[in-house]
Amino acid sequence: MTETLDIQITETQSSKLSEIDFDNLAFGKTFSDHMFVADYKNGEWTDLRITPYQNLSISPANATLHYAQSIFEGLKAHKNDNGDILIFRPEANAKRLIKSAERMCMPPVPEELFMEAIESLVSLDKDWVPNKPGTSLYIRPFQFADDPFIGVRPSETYKFMVLTGPVGGYYSEPVKVKIEKHFTRAVRGGVGAAKTAGNYAASLYPAKQAQSQGYHQLVWTDGQTHEFIEESGTMNIMFVINDTLITPPTSDSILPGITRESALILAKDWGLNVEERPIKIDEVIEAIEKGSLTEAFGIGTAATVSHIAVIGYEGTDYELPTIETRKTSNRLLDALTGIKMGQIEDKYGWIKKI
Ligand code: COI
Repeated sequence: MTETLDIQITETQSSKLSEIDFDNLAFGKTFSDHMFVADYKNGEWTDLRITPYQNLSISPANATLHYAQSIFEGLKAHKNDNGDILIFRPEANAKRLIKSAERMCMPPVPEELFMEAIESLVSLDKDWVPNKPGTSLYIRPFQFADDPFIGVRPSETYKFMVLTGPVGGYYSEPVKVKIEKHFTRAVRGGVGAAKTAGNYAASLYPAKQAQSQGYHQLVWTDGQTHEFIEESGTMNIMFVINDTLITPPTSDSILPGITRESALILAKDWGLNVEERPIKIDEVIEAIEKGSLTEAFGIGTAATVSHIAVIGYEGTDYELPTIETRKTSNRLLDALTGIKMGQIEDKYGWIKKI
């Protein structure tokens, strides 16, 4: 790695690595020894540093706590059989963070800063990258307003930080989802295409209602008519109907998922029929009833592919074909996992090796 930015590194004196049970990793509970921090003030990113993982001290008037001017990314690193660390499409995450920042009225984190923060942090904590099947190092870059001010206006100061932590699977089983006709994750003209904190906060109450009815997650529909499918839980959604892979097009209410885009590139390269187009609930239900819907799945960084086993709609639970019969989603899962782990040739230049 050629380092061009000056990052001050303070290493921990008490690594927690030996306390971690790498055979039983949950998602999002364990954090590696170090974190990256940069401050934005007077119009520039300064004081780039890697420190031991630790709590922050912030003002009770911190603008993020009050108005959620806060954005994040999620990406993964794997260790291949030679011990190299492979990070999946970090440049795409860097670009999306810049897009989210623009929408949320925040200064961009330059791609070079994003990349060097991640590479330096992951190199320092390389022993935290697990190598068992189904595990990875989850990397969480995030940026938030830092002004101690409770007037409503864009903050003048920000922090850009990166945490990492070894993780296991996000969902342990195929999911049962309910099509949501009342609540909305994101609206036209809103912030649904930005990876911003408030979108996830807004999803909690409706998701909790669905969970109390026995579902794992919701399928979100458009905020205007509730007739069109948008996303599933915290992921993009795809269907296979009549052997065609169909997913809603990205819009200002749908997140441009990097795993979504990778899957579409793979499927097109394999010569599959792929359609990015609005998809009505009615079309999905009709296709289930006719038997022409053979697969439905969420697709995102955390779970990669999350098979949907049951779709609940207007009081009926529709059982979908068994997971073993699902050719496209299983092939996508194997290909994406294989590329990420360095077992399948990376002909798209998606892997950053460090
Ligand atoms: C993803 O899977 O891409 C996510 O963003 C999930 C994360 C919110 C845990």
